[in-house]
Amino acid sequence: MIKNRDNFLFFIPILITLILIILTSLLMYQLKQFGQTYNQETEKELQTDIKQVLHIVEPLLKYNKYIELQNYCNEFNNEKIRITIIDNKGKVLADSNTPTNKLDNHSNRPEIISALDGKSNTIIRYSSTMQSEMIYKSTPIIINGNKYVIRISISSHNISKTLDKAEKNIYLTFFIGFGGVLLLTLYILIRVRLPFNKLQQSAIKIASGNLDTEIFVPKNGVLWELSRAINVMSKQLKRQIKSMKKLENFRSEFIANVSHEIKTPLTSILSAVEMLESLEPTNKTEVKCLKIISEQSNRLNTLIQDILSLADLEKRQIFKNRDFAELTISSTVENAISLCRGIVESSNIKIEILEKSDIQIFGNSYLLEQAINNLVINAVKYSQTDKITAKSYVENNEIKISVKDYGIGIEKEECSRIFERFYRIDKARSRELGGTGLGLAIVKNIAKLHNGRIDVISSIGKGSEFIICIPII
Ligand SMILES: Nc1ncnc2c1ncn2[C@@H]1O[C@H](COP(=O)(O)OP(=O)(O)OP(=O)(O)O)[C@@H](O)[C@H]1O
Ligand SMILES: [Mg+2]
Repeated sequence: MIKNRDNFLFFIPILITLILIILTSLLMYQLKQFGQTYNQETEKELQTDIKQVLHIVEPLLKYNKYIELQNYCNEFNNEKIRITIIDNKGKVLADSNTPTNKLDNHSNRPEIISALDGKSNTIIRYSSTMQSEMIYKSTPIIINGNKYVIRISISSHNISKTLDKAEKNIYLTFFIGFGGVLLLTLYILIRVRLPFNKLQQSAIKIASGNLDTEIFVPKNGVLWELSRAINVMSKQLKRQIKSMKKLENFRSEFIANVSHEIKTPLTSILSAVEMLESLEPTNKTEVKCLKIISEQSNRLNTLIQDILSLADLEKRQIFKNRDFAELTISSTVENAISLCRGIVESSNIKIEILEKSDIQIFGNSYLLEQAINNLVINAVKYSQTDKITAKSYVENNEIKISVKDYGIGIEKEECSRIFERFYRIDKARSRELGGTGLGLAIVKNIAKLHNGRIDVISSIGKGSEFIICIPII
């Protein structure tokens, strides 16, 4: 994710750099093309000039009129082009630009070498005489059996200077543009990416519940408003959670207080009923009434016990690990089973421990035993099974405690609801059996207290398996 976002942020500088490279290459190509075309055109012009010069020079050479030859060349003295006539030894016979006695032997000039070889040619090179870059066109002629070379040249200095300047300007523009891109990247990094990173880290901390996290607020820039909004949001959230916690605490405390208040008179009622029962009443109505009072007060007593258990578990969630100690999971399972073995076997149900894990965990053995006990009693009361099996094992870095029956099973839609408080599948039957619908909610809370969860796998007619899963730290 983060990588993708980074790519996106740096996409614009990369794109600008690419466009700059493409534009520079295109301009350089055009410049080279222009230079080439210019040279070709100049060459053509020189070719035409050479033909005209030949027309005049040929008869003068034929009759060895060297003075007239020099005079003719002198006519071009102030022209852009330079005309040079050279004999087969490289000696300059006439030149439009410099007196011949000041010119050295030209037999070593590349355009002369190849012309004396019989080939017309064009060469661009620096001329030490003219002290400038020149385009030379030279052509051989044979007069009276003697070889001569007519050379016409023109300075290419201005155009090459212009082209050089244009090339430098293109490179300069590229480097300025590239510098701009670097500055833009730096800006994105310092003003956007780094503050964004910090802001993201704070937001992640807030999302994971750490509402006291100090939000990083950049002094200005694009992220200023966003970080301020997150700050306001986190403060509001903190306030809301605080008031919700307050309300929740008040609710739990109220329920616990009411339950405690009911418990005292209920205990008196129960002992009074016990006393009356010990008197062994004979009157049928008296016996019936006493039975109803006894049954209902016992139900009320279980309900109050369950409500108090849940309230206690809720309190413990806040101070996790309270009363936690090292415990061996197999012993916890064994203790829980032996506690309810009597009730199970009196219902003609067999109970068996199939697998034991000797792993030790940090937990509350009393509460875990209560959870296993709830699951076993449920299997006895509702599943119509003739066998219950229990297991403890390690799987996927979790300790698992399973209680399985082979009875009626639970519908899929019901499976997710049975852990809700007061939820019972068959209300009438559950009530008849003294169920309050709080047992599985208690099991769920006990698992949660151990940072775990409770799973149920059930199939109609085959039975249900409840599994408490606790992560191994
Ligand atoms: N092993 C089981 N097989 C079939 N149904 C079950 C099984 N265990 C639980 N149930 C159903 O789930 C409901 C909820 O169980 P839970 O233990 O939460 O409440 P309860 O047993 O009715 O009351 P309490 O446990 O508080 O006495 C039960 O009423 C019952 O309908
Ligand atoms: Mg139960």
